[in-house]
Amino acid sequence: MQQLSIPPLIPNTPTGQQRDTIANEIITIPVVIHLLYKTSDQDIPDAQILSQLANLNNDYRMLNADRVNIPTPFRIFAADCQVMFCLAQVDPSGRHTNGMIRKYTNRDYFIADDGMKYSASGGDDAWDNNRYLNIWVCNLFGRMLGYSSIPGSSPDKDGVVINWDVFGTIGHLRPLFNKGRTTTHEIGHWMGLKHIWGDALCGDDGIDDTPSQQNYNFGCPSFPNASSCSPNANGDMFMNFMDFTDDGCMNMFTNGQKKKMRSLFALNAPRNSFLNSFACDSSLASGVREEGQTLPQTNNIKVYPNPARDLIHLDFTDASVIGKTIHLYSMQGTELLNQVIHKNPNMINVQNIPPGAYLLSVSLGDQKKIVKLIKY
Ligand code: ARG
Ligand code: ZN
Ligand code: CA
Repeated sequence: MQQLSIPPLIPNTPTGQQRDTIANEIITIPVVIHLLYKTSDQDIPDAQILSQLANLNNDYRMLNADRVNIPTPFRIFAADCQVMFCLAQVDPSGRHTNGMIRKYTNRDYFIADDGMKYSASGGDDAWDNNRYLNIWVCNLFGRMLGYSSIPGSSPDKDGVVINWDVFGTIGHLRPLFNKGRTTTHEIGHWMGLKHIWGDALCGDDGIDDTPSQQNYNFGCPSFPNASSCSPNANGDMFMNFMDFTDDGCMNMFTNGQKKKMRSLFALNAPRNSFLNSFACDSSLASGVREEGQTLPQTNNIKVYPNPARDLIHLDFTDASVIGKTIHLYSMQGTELLNQVIHKNPNMINVQNIPPGAYLLSVSLGDQKKIVKLIKY
């Protein structure tokens, strides 16, 4: 059968136009999941993938329920990193996607040699690393939980790799690593963070507000846990996402780590291109799907027109959104309006909102849908 192809609205090649981050801007990162399975256990359900996305959006917005466990003296350092993650809705050729690629592999396991990142070695090739965070979920050899590339590494290897049984917060998960923190930790590396002990005895992680500590911590120490180079009686910040403690024990990034991660998105910094990635906006995908491709299984929003001047339509694939609330945020995170969805499609009037870029957000069960809206 012949394939129709309609050019995508947004060119696939970067336009070369750059902008800097705005203070307090919420940085949204389109994510593509490359799920490689040999056994049916490894073919984890959508709900498990969505639970990982929800967990990232909690950890990177300091909305994780266990933040109440941050020891009092460390609370002043804990940060809302103002980074959010969404499953890609547009693939590199401008077509609809649900951001999840499932692929059978004949490999029993992968090792940390990046084999999962190439179709030729039983893996799946990366999507454009200027617009997508690539996450490979697969069976890693032995007890390895995951690993990450560091900023500036080769484009086809850029991303994080996570073992299937530590990905997400629901499903068949390994005890002690069942709260999605391996992915939180590895994405920290992807955004330039080092381990909190600086990968050397009393090493330096380059972050001012993480206290120096002698070595990594395992398990879950009790507070305070001082080591030979602790600057004061508060000891190690073992509950930091960049230590090696159990998932249920780690619960914070610091302001210094936030600053470091966000610096990667600044003008001319390695991840600046993400400020111009619209890959989560399903309204920008062409209606044509490749032969054999199925409609996205998850609920999707179509927003049109976008850019918009006055009225916008929100069209959902699933009527279960009725009764849910849609929120419109500025890039600084201020809520400008919210509206309960009464019908599908639903209309919103943005006439009285100043021109600029906004985020439309609606929570659908475990999933948070985020769409960038341009008002002119
Ligand atoms: N790269 C580390 C490893 O593979 C990840 C540690 C993550 N820690 C966690 N509690 N999930 O060991
Ligand atoms: Zn690490
Ligand atoms: Ca430090």
